[in-house]
Formats: sequence, structure tokens, C-alpha cells
Amino acid sequence: MHSLGILLSGRGSNFVAIADSIDAGRIAGARIAVVVSNKADAPGIATARQRGLNALVIPSRGRPREEHDREVVAALKQHNVDLVCLAGYMRLLSLWFVQQFPQRILNIHPSLLPAFPGLEAQEQAFAYGVKVSGCTVHFVDEELDHGAIVVQKTVPVLDTDDEHTLGVRILEQEHIAYTEAINVVLGRDFEIAGRRLRRSSQKSEGRRQK
Ligand code: GRF
Repeated sequence: MHSLGILLSGRGSNFVAIADSIDAGRIAGARIAVVVSNKADAPGIATARQRGLNALVIPSRGRPREEHDREVVAALKQHNVDLVCLAGYMRLLSLWFVQQFPQRILNIHPSLLPAFPGLEAQEQAFAYGVKVSGCTVHFVDEELDHGAIVVQKTVPVLDTDDEHTLGVRILEQEHIAYTEAINVVLGRDFEIAGRRLRRSSQKSEGRRQK
């Protein structure tokens, strides 16, 4: 049984999507061992408590990054977490944190990286005038929105869209993409060369087609 640790700072809809996928059997052989928020008032942490999950608040405000990271990692290890899922966690992880879970930390970002990293990616994409945007689930390294890409989903930008409607459609895809990415990682269905992640299953399908 895999133990997931969820880190969040806000609403928590990606966390809920992951929890729902586990409950519905779309992610098999996994449980959420702990949900950690760096903000006491994050709605996501209240939801975690309502769902009967272990929910911890480890405040980050005014604390050196690595000191806070050490406390978070201690909590994750105490709960035997083997996959960390950042779900709207508004903190950059220290290199030390990343090294504690090699290829075992995922993040979701609401754009097609490397376009529009950072805050308000949906608004950035809309204002830029792109015709296609989407979301990215990627491994986390010590750079913002940067590690190897696991799953991307595209979303067309419609002429009738505004930032909000685009953001809503991207979020729908985020919830699908995160489940898919977790299954890839937990199933060890991948290999990485440089920045390129290839799914082992798709590679063998490709071979069969030849
Ligand atoms: C999502 O758009 C995610 O891509 C970004 O932060 C937002 C979190 O939303 N990293 P939620 O808290 O999961 O609802």
C-alpha cells in the first residue's frame, strides 16, 4: 500500500480529486497518509479533517525555509509517506527537501510548462493571447515549476473565454491529470532520460506496432 502525503496552502480541489480517485478505485493500492498545510486557514485542511484524514498545520510564516521544510519532512516520514503531492502548496521546496524524496514529489501547475510558470498562470496565458493552454503535472526540483514533466493536458482557449472560464476548464483537466500522473509514478511506469519521461507501457505498445 502506497502512502501519499498531500501538501496544500488553499482551496484543496486537487487534493479532493486525488482523495476521490482513491475512494473510487481510480488510484489503486494507495491511501492518503497525511495532509499538511502551511496555512491554518486553508479550506483544504478543513476538508481533510472532515474526511477523517490526518491533517496537520505546520505554519511557515516568518520561518527560514529549511527549518520549516525539516518539520514538514519529519511529519511526512513519520507517516511513512512514499509519494508527496503538492496541491496548491505555495512554497518553494529547499534542495534538501527535494533530496529526501528522489522522484517522489509531484506538483501540478495550471499551464503548459515551460510557458507561464509562477503565480496566476491562467491569467498570464489568457493575457498573452495563447489559443491553447492546459495543465502540467511534473516532478519537483528546487526550481519553481521546473522538474521533468509526467502528464500534460491541453485546453483550447475559446473566443468566448475570460480568465475565469478558462481557469475553470483548466481545473477540470488538472483533476484528471493528477490522478493519471500518480498512477504513472506509483506504477513505476516510466523511465527518465534527461528531462524526458517516457511511459514504459507506451514504449512497449510502440514496439508492438512496428
Ligand atoms: C491549482 O490551479 C494548481 O494548479 C496550482 O494551484 C491551484 C490549487 O488549487 N498549483 P486547489 O487548491 O487544488 O483547488
